Amino acid sequence: MLCIWIPRIKCGASSAFPGMTFQVNEFLIHCISYLPSVISPQNMLMEKRVYIETYGCQMNEYDTERILRLLESSNYLETKDAKEADFILINTCSVREKPEHKVYSALGRYQWLKEERGTIIGVAGCVAQQEGDRLLNRVPYLDMVIGTHAIPMLPQLLQKVECSGQRVCETGFDPEGNYLKTILPQKSPVVGSIRLDKVKSYVTIMQGCDHFCSYCIVPYVRGREKSRSSGEIIEEVKRLTEMGVKEVCLLGQNVNGYGKGLEEELRFAELLPRINEIEGLHRIRFTTSHPADLSEELIQAFSRLSKLCEHIHLPFQSGSDRILKAMHRGYTKESYLEKIDRLKGVCPSIAVTADVIVGFPGEEERDFEETLDLLQKVRFDDLFSFKYSPRKGTRAAQFEDKVEEKVKQERLSILQEIQKEITLQKNQELEGRVKEVLVEGRSKQSDRDVTGRTRSNKVVNFKGDLELVGKLVPVQITKAYPHSLRGEIVPTHCRLQNAPACRTDRDCGIKDSEILI
Ligand code: 5AD
Ligand code: SF4
Repeated sequence: MLCIWIPRIKCGASSAFPGMTFQVNEFLIHCISYLPSVISPQNMLMEKRVYIETYGCQMNEYDTERILRLLESSNYLETKDAKEADFILINTCSVREKPEHKVYSALGRYQWLKEERGTIIGVAGCVAQQEGDRLLNRVPYLDMVIGTHAIPMLPQLLQKVECSGQRVCETGFDPEGNYLKTILPQKSPVVGSIRLDKVKSYVTIMQGCDHFCSYCIVPYVRGREKSRSSGEIIEEVKRLTEMGVKEVCLLGQNVNGYGKGLEEELRFAELLPRINEIEGLHRIRFTTSHPADLSEELIQAFSRLSKLCEHIHLPFQSGSDRILKAMHRGYTKESYLEKIDRLKGVCPSIAVTADVIVGFPGEEERDFEETLDLLQKVRFDDLFSFKYSPRKGTRAAQFEDKVEEKVKQERLSILQEIQKEITLQKNQELEGRVKEVLVEGRSKQSDRDVTGRTRSNKVVNFKGDLELVGKLVPVQITKAYPHSLRGEIVPTHCRLQNAPACRTDRDCGIKDSEILI
């Protein structure tokens, strides 16, 4: 392949990314990148493979999806096998210590591929943003470090590595928000594309966070809140539905903060009805909400918008007002409980999940008791619980009254045991009920089963053919487990005759294709 390299010219003034210095030369590189195709059309057809390993939150999963869309135009197709990849990218998370450590073990796993096949290896995401050049220094076989705002530059950076063998690091912040620009999926996905079987998709509507909770690294690695225009979001959702996507999950570190700084005056509760109107779309979800910013309009949306699913993820972090204050969360236990009451009042069937941290500095037994009390009062459908993990650069990392590791672990185990029981009871309440399930694919447990989710986001496994994927199916829940439900399809004739659900394994001969709603 023909490669031409232009040395880096510093030019910030004309940059569309103020404060970043790549624009002019990257543009030139971009233009030149088309030369080989003019000279040798086969080069355009030369397919390469990218393998991406994703850690952390849904935002990272979405970024991975965008990276794949972006790399398609550079002829990179996704592979699920790192051994056949030309480019391996680790998309990282630094929200706690544990996921951060995974980066180094992942890199260690792929070192031999670099040595034997010359595979290009890169790190993206929050650890890349946080560590920058330090990562390149620490890992000699690493080729590329790409920060959270630099994703759109990936094809150019990759080309630079391919052509010059130079190691690259781009971690500048982009206050203009160009990093959020739409990267649409291709209209007609090619065979081998991961998108052929996509039923649901994430769509980022905003990124970054202005809350600066004292324990949290996110504002430092994702930057300040920045929203995408409603036009771009709607265009993306429409394109996804054209491609068969039935459910979107709108993403942001604080979706309730949507609209801040946009030219159009639009808040999150006003964006939702516009998405609700999109034809072909069946379900809308969003995450994450901050309790302090959860408006009455948004609560009302749960009864007004037919496509908005009955589920909210509303992290509370602690049940103790003293700890909430030290965390800089901006609400109390009581005001959190009031919001939950409002949500349940407006939408009685709403499922509520949350995040909680145990062992925050200064957390005493009585504070922990308050957290357990909140668990019992709300009775969450599910809970994501974490031991406090000090993050360099955050305020809480300076707090002195640290909780011993052993105490943290004990509290975590107690809390998880209590929640396990609540989750199971909540699932058992669904036994015998018929729920609408969006079928997502083959179940991991059995080749004869498919798997999907209810509107309340519960996983349901049931016997069924792959032709059900992407369909909304009525399923009677027959058995509840701690992490999933088992069910049976309710056949059409049962529904037409208003008969109780058929439990006869369908010896009536009705085919799966006839039982869709
Ligand atoms: N330590 C432990 N848990 C944390 N989280 C965020 N920062 C930390 C930290 N330093 C948890 C919060 C947040 C979730 C994504 O991760 O519960 O909601
Ligand atoms: Fe982190 Fe708090 Fe922002 Fe959530 S709201 S991303 S916990 S700073």
